[in-house]
Amino acid sequence: MDKRALLEQKRAASQLGGGEKRIEAQHKRGKLTARERLTLLLDEGSFQEIGAFVTHSSNDFGLEKQRFLGDGVVTGYGTIDGRLVYVFSQDFTVFGGSLSETHAHKICRIMDLAMENGAPVIGLNDSGGARIQEGVVSLGGYADIFYRNVMASGVIPQFSLIMGPCAGGAVYSPALTDFVSMVEGTSYMFVTGPNVVKTVTNEDVSSEDLGGASVHSTRSGVAHFAAANEAEAIQHLRRLLSYIPQNCEEKAPEAAYSGGNEIRKQLAELVPANPNQPYDMREVIQGVVDDNSFLEVHAGFAGNILVGFARLAGKSIGVVANQPAVLAGVLDVHASQKGARFVRFCDAFNIPLLVFEDVPGFLPGTDQEWNAIITNGAKLLYAFSEATVPRITVITRKAYGGAYDVMNSKHIGADMNYAWPTAEIAVMGARGAAEIIFRSEIEAAADKAAALKGKEDEYAEMFANPYRAAERGYVDEVILPEETRERLIRAFRMLEGKVRNLPRKKHGNIPL
Ligand code: HXC
Repeated sequence: MDKRALLEQKRAASQLGGGEKRIEAQHKRGKLTARERLTLLLDEGSFQEIGAFVTHSSNDFGLEKQRFLGDGVVTGYGTIDGRLVYVFSQDFTVFGGSLSETHAHKICRIMDLAMENGAPVIGLNDSGGARIQEGVVSLGGYADIFYRNVMASGVIPQFSLIMGPCAGGAVYSPALTDFVSMVEGTSYMFVTGPNVVKTVTNEDVSSEDLGGASVHSTRSGVAHFAAANEAEAIQHLRRLLSYIPQNCEEKAPEAAYSGGNEIRKQLAELVPANPNQPYDMREVIQGVVDDNSFLEVHAGFAGNILVGFARLAGKSIGVVANQPAVLAGVLDVHASQKGARFVRFCDAFNIPLLVFEDVPGFLPGTDQEWNAIITNGAKLLYAFSEATVPRITVITRKAYGGAYDVMNSKHIGADMNYAWPTAEIAVMGARGAAEIIFRSEIEAAADKAAALKGKEDEYAEMFANPYRAAERGYVDEVILPEETRERLIRAFRMLEGKVRNLPRKKHGNIPL
């Protein structure tokens, strides 16, 4: 055969993966193919494939008669909004996207290139797990990938899109990456599937209920994002990437910003006069940051804390905020984990942190204590304390108890703390405090209720305000809500050159 024609033939064959019938079956499952996904993900015409002709080298179980060019994973590089990214996209039409020795080598090569060149890695996962016919070499292949995930952690951003099955030990590669996105109805993740669950625990559960997108984006927190379909998940990832730098040595790209009047009158109306009335902290965030720039992470999980990326004067920031509209914004096990992980990501990738605080404290109760709120709350405390990026807190209302310390107080290294006039910075709420410290006086009073009210008012007068903290310099300035955006833009600009180094150590020991 003519040499050029042979190449053309091979190129055409490699485009087809496991063949037209299997592509049709993939579409019937409501799923796109590995290549269609890459077309949606990357800038038009930017994808450059690597290793398209690689095949497996196994001769067991008749595999020698089934060799498909690419061996079940499409790998290469391309751009997103003009920025270099490395990608691998598992091809379910070839042995169900299962991972062979060579399939793993292809992924490892992409990860090595990404590390050496300082650019993000995006994995599109759609796989039946270990290539069963290959045995232990497939397991070795997984471990080679896990090791690289860990080495790359904190060096380059890593993203996982789960677009099909992801089971067994295979779930641990996505779990080691920075962000996991799932697709409703067609993707699932679990360590053991429904059949094993039935055998071991006698539970009847569907794949969806065991490890579907909604389970992992609301109950377990394994997934940071859940999308209605594949195209939405991919578009969302493109947007997410725009807030994040290429690697730990760089800063995130900036969006255009032309300045102007930074006073935001609508912020003045948001905190209710009654301190026990909830309000939506999202409105505070949206009112402060650049228009439509807030991209929430883990939106369905631990709603009592909000985390996400935004832009302030065009610059990327990470936002962490108590949410008074859910459980009064209390800190519990999941909220602490969610906050801590996000803070560490931002710190690793030079993204300044902005905290909005309205927190009544840690959630009391046996459930929380038995589930280690002590260790988990300490994660958030640790994460903020070790973060060396610029960090600013705005106390909108309650900053009570240990939660005041934890939520990016100046004592644990925040650069600036602002408080609104509605701030209450105290050991606890006025009623609880009065009941404890004035107990004997209240009990001796003829009208106990009136005495309690009087003492409560006295305590509130003294502490339910930001001025005690401002006198000590714990709060740098008490500002009107409408002034917040302007102050933050100035302060973050002032902190742009910040350098703070941690003490020399091998690594710390965050309470895991
Ligand atoms: C080889 C596999 C495969 C695998 C699927 N296929 N999984 N080939 N190794 N692990 C092949 C099928 O033979 C079939 O080939 C094609 O992929 C599509 O599979 P179907 O079963 O027809 O598709 P579907 O009905 O959609 O079911 C998908 C599935 C199922 C749920 C993933 O295939 C399945 O349960 N596969 C086995 C999963 C599994 O037990 N994997 C090992 C887990 S242990 P043809 O030729 O018909 O197209 C593991 C350890 C990892 O992964 C440890 C890491 C540390």
